[in-house]
Amino acid sequence: MKLEKFRTHFPSLRREIHGRPIVYLDGPAGTQVPNQVMDSMSSYYKYSNANTHGYFAASQETDRLLEAVRGKVAAFLGAESPSCISFGQNMTTLNFSLSKALARSMQPGDEILITQLDHESNRGPWITLEEQGIIVKEVNLLAAGVLDYEDLKNKITSRTKLICIGYASNIFGTVNNIALVRSLTMETGIKLLVDAVHYVPHMSIDVSALECDFLLCSAYKFYGPHVGILYVKPGLLDTLATDRLRTQDPAAPFRIETGTLNHAAIAGVGAAIEFIAQFGRGDDLRTKLIDAMKNLHQHEMKLVTQLYHGIKEIRGSQIYGPKIDSVRRAPTLAFTLQGKTPQQVCYELAKKAIYAWDGHFYAIRATEILGLLEGGGVTRMGVVGYNTEDEISYTLKALHEIG
Ligand SMILES: Cc1ncc(COP(=O)(O)O)c(C=O)c1O
Repeated sequence: MKLEKFRTHFPSLRREIHGRPIVYLDGPAGTQVPNQVMDSMSSYYKYSNANTHGYFAASQETDRLLEAVRGKVAAFLGAESPSCISFGQNMTTLNFSLSKALARSMQPGDEILITQLDHESNRGPWITLEEQGIIVKEVNLLAAGVLDYEDLKNKITSRTKLICIGYASNIFGTVNNIALVRSLTMETGIKLLVDAVHYVPHMSIDVSALECDFLLCSAYKFYGPHVGILYVKPGLLDTLATDRLRTQDPAAPFRIETGTLNHAAIAGVGAAIEFIAQFGRGDDLRTKLIDAMKNLHQHEMKLVTQLYHGIKEIRGSQIYGPKIDSVRRAPTLAFTLQGKTPQQVCYELAKKAIYAWDGHFYAIRATEILGLLEGGGVTRMGVVGYNTEDEISYTLKALHEIG
């Protein structure tokens, strides 16, 4: 991958703080945005700003834009058709809408499985259903930062209706075994919901091969603007009792899209997918995207491996989650340094123009289980496409000075 070319698309990478170029290792909280995404949003406002379903040009352009972007997202996720793709404010809001709709098809005593590793956005919406008598069970997290699949298996009962699980952990970088979970539930009618927010920026995805019923992601994690994305298996959304107005189109994908969408941001989602695709080869958008994601992943894993080994050398450091050469790994590291709180580490890093986050990152249950919460959680660094080897070396030097 021509990294220099990748980086030149991002104006924010040229910004300096304290006389130094910024090192953005805060990707898991949101990536920087390339020019073509910003241009597409600005162009929407300049020329096509209107509401949908009118007879005049801007409205018809808006209709075509939304349809086209649904198609691009479908190619990105391997979805069967653009009508499987709904948009919303963010992943959390879409998941709350979904939980409300699914609850209407459940009875008191029905069960939902969530995990101790997941971000709260894939726990909270389901935990609230306990108010309606639905039983929510947690799959245990092991000290190694991976889920206990034996426990998951044991917690499935004849009353289990839904399993909600993340594809990749936004704190430890653990990639969960979704194929195993699907194989355990295949003949049972149990629905499978996958939070792919942290997976999608790093690896290509194929929703039809995963055979999940629902999958959610968020464009601001993959070089796009703040838009939530929901994939629903063909035919399923039409059967759900979603909150909606009588004036709203009841068919998929509109059935869960309340109010006016953020059209300009959705234009940006399409541009983000086109941006990624240009770093891959192939005859169609999907093939280019798969190739581009492979290139990005290779680059990211190379850098995060350098970071991992460098941090390990710091006396008293501890890295959480699977080993870096595990096949089930995203390029995200959580660690602590002896004698410093994660907050102190990030404060010192910020002085050196290195952007990193401290805390629990809403994966609060995982930090509770591993006994990390009281000490302020962990320091998290995530590698994405625009990071470089020099940035990692500079960060390691800074960490050695802090540690
Ligand atoms: C793994 C994971 N799931 C869900 C979310 C929530 O996404 P959103 O901000 O779009 O609601 C995040 C955000 O950080 C995340 O990392």
